[in-house]
Amino acid sequence: MKQKIEKNTVQETLIIPLYSRKIAKEKFPDLIGDKSSDDIINKIDYDFSDKEKYFNSAIGLYGALEVAQREFDLECEIKEYLKKREDASVVNLGCGLNDLFSSVNNGKCKGYNLDFEEVIKTREELLEKQDNEFNIACDLNDYSWFEKIEKDKGVIFVASGVFYYFKKEEVKNLFVKMSEYFKCGALAFDTCNKTGLKMVLRLLKTMDMKEVGSYFCISDNLEELKSWSDNFENVSSKSYMNGYRKLKDIRLLYKFFNIFTDKIFNMQIIKIEFK
Ligand SMILES: C[S@@+](CC[C@H](N)C(=O)[O-])C[C@H]1O[C@@H](n2cnc3c(N)ncnc32)[C@H](O)[C@@H]1O
Repeated sequence: MKQKIEKNTVQETLIIPLYSRKIAKEKFPDLIGDKSSDDIINKIDYDFSDKEKYFNSAIGLYGALEVAQREFDLECEIKEYLKKREDASVVNLGCGLNDLFSSVNNGKCKGYNLDFEEVIKTREELLEKQDNEFNIACDLNDYSWFEKIEKDKGVIFVASGVFYYFKKEEVKNLFVKMSEYFKCGALAFDTCNKTGLKMVLRLLKTMDMKEVGSYFCISDNLEELKSWSDNFENVSSKSYMNGYRKLKDIRLLYKFFNIFTDKIFNMQIIKIEFK
């Protein structure tokens, strides 16, 4: 039986990066190492027919480029962390059906994929796990998952496309608690400003996910985020589209969009280290 993705829930949003990875692999194969999206898409019970037009439009293709860049950005952050702590834990918060761990697995680290129970169930059916990889079904806002992560050898957390759907207080409480529990850990995630958040909401409407809200963004230059906890250090940000690798051989239109995502939406990857 095909695995079902519940409509109009935050879980359904995983469809967007999943399909974007498939498109990115087809159109920009040099930019993404994705091995699984095509197969997963064939195995889930989800009607993509009304979404294909969007994904193949100029904006949709640019969205696929964004997802390829975000994967690369977060892979860089993980690999950087693993250079110092090769047997650390690598935690994918709100993993969806993303196979990021296979690209960074050095055989010594441990990989953890966290998402709601329904998503993890689907994941278990569709994505093969490696020996050093674990799936944890949880609500990220219920911190009992902390105890399931090995933390003594260091922990790098990543979240791609996840915190847009959290309220600010939820993000704040989660980050503060993580910084207290996971000493010497680090967290990297993507975000944008208020204008970018409106664009996320518009995308959800286009995707017919009208009941999913998007709330969290960062509009100042990280001052508020830095003030959340004395356990944060080296809070830094890089451009999501241009901060980790430059895209040279792309259409002029996408180069123009790149400037737009930087200047108008302030799409960025933020990294926080925990003391
Ligand atoms: C846009 S998808 C991104 C999926 C994946 N990170 C990727 O890049 O393909 C957002 C994911 O966050 C998960 N998520 C959102 N809120 C969550 C929460 N409170 N607890 C666990 N997972 C959550 C959703 O179920 C969904 O899989």
